[in-house]
Amino acid sequence: MVKIGIIGCGYWGPNYLRNFMQLKDSEVLICCDLRRENLDKVKKHFHTVELTTDYNQVLRDRMIDAVVIATPAKTHYKIAKAALAKGKHVLVEKPLTLTYNESKKLVDMARKKEKMLMVGHTFLFNPAVRKLKEYISKGDLGEIYYLHATRTHLGLVRKDVNASWDLVPHDISIFSYLLDESPISVSALGGSFLRKPKHDVVFINLLYPKGIIANIHASWADSNKVREIQVIGSRARIVFDDLNNLEKVKLYKKGISVDKSYVNYGEFQLLLRDGDIISPKVDPQEPLRLQCEHFINCIKKHKKPLTDGENGAQVVKVMNAIDRSLKSGARMVKV
Ligand SMILES: NC(=O)c1ccc[n+]([C@@H]2O[C@H](COP(=O)([O-])OP(=O)(O)OC[C@H]3O[C@@H](n4cnc5c(N)ncnc54)[C@H](O)[C@@H]3O)[C@@H](O)[C@H]2O)c1
Repeated sequence: MVKIGIIGCGYWGPNYLRNFMQLKDSEVLICCDLRRENLDKVKKHFHTVELTTDYNQVLRDRMIDAVVIATPAKTHYKIAKAALAKGKHVLVEKPLTLTYNESKKLVDMARKKEKMLMVGHTFLFNPAVRKLKEYISKGDLGEIYYLHATRTHLGLVRKDVNASWDLVPHDISIFSYLLDESPISVSALGGSFLRKPKHDVVFINLLYPKGIIANIHASWADSNKVREIQVIGSRARIVFDDLNNLEKVKLYKKGISVDKSYVNYGEFQLLLRDGDIISPKVDPQEPLRLQCEHFINCIKKHKKPLTDGENGAQVVKVMNAIDRSLKSGARMVKV
């Protein structure tokens, strides 16, 4: 049984509590939040769980093997560092930290302490994203041309970070997972219409090593709630619509490519393909449940998690480049 402490019981932390309590190999012994009313809610559903407003009490507890950090992003580094120092395995919500240097320090510390550091890039445990990866790996899309992500809605406007830090780490982690590579340069244009100077709308362009390009649009100021990823290839296009509960993934077997066998000098011929639209069955399991199971399995079997510290640090490195580009007014910058 892996004994867990949860730090941060606002919106997202209680989802960890529920999942770790339901898994057969884990148990939450203690929850921490600065706000008493959040702890009262925990007590209502899980009356055996100890409660505290001081996270050091969680870290001092010798019974606790692992901690989950679901506090605002700006606190992640400090709390994760203290938890690793006390010899706990650590699962930090995204983003791992706000700077690449801090992330690297946590990775080094986890290695020295021989403890697991994992980051909550939940989408990599999402069966729909796994389905996208399956199609891409099988070659169903042909040559990948570009990717596009839209993550828009009204609010929730976070105090500590901008819309980019809140929403975009999801897409960066999904794209890197699908392509097995990280972007080499980015450009980002932002607008702050709700609360200056923090950006509540961003348009981000990314360039990957082999020439694949991508675009992410994230906004807290758009009444059209969209959660969509598209991957466009020479043979097919695939769409993941997270708000569509019936058909989350659709493969459109239509594409355009250059006919390489056509050899007339100075001319080229395009091949148009038309085919079926496939809507595959997607495993309905909760992604966070699968992520929690993975965390426990990795601890028990001493395995490297899919979303380990290095993976989290790489996403933060891209986010730092996005910040530099935002400051420069959308200049293309190296990651
Ligand atoms: N993976 C996902 O899909 C997903 C979804 C939502 C949120 N998140 C991430 O989870 C984290 C928390 O987000 P949220 O929406 O739950 O925010 P929230 O503001 O609702 O909750 C954060 C909680 O942390 C508490 N807190 C702050 N500092 C603390 C401290 N020093 N000690 C103890 N408690 C402290 C606050 O009182 C608050 O209740 C963020 O990093 C966010 O990006 C991830």
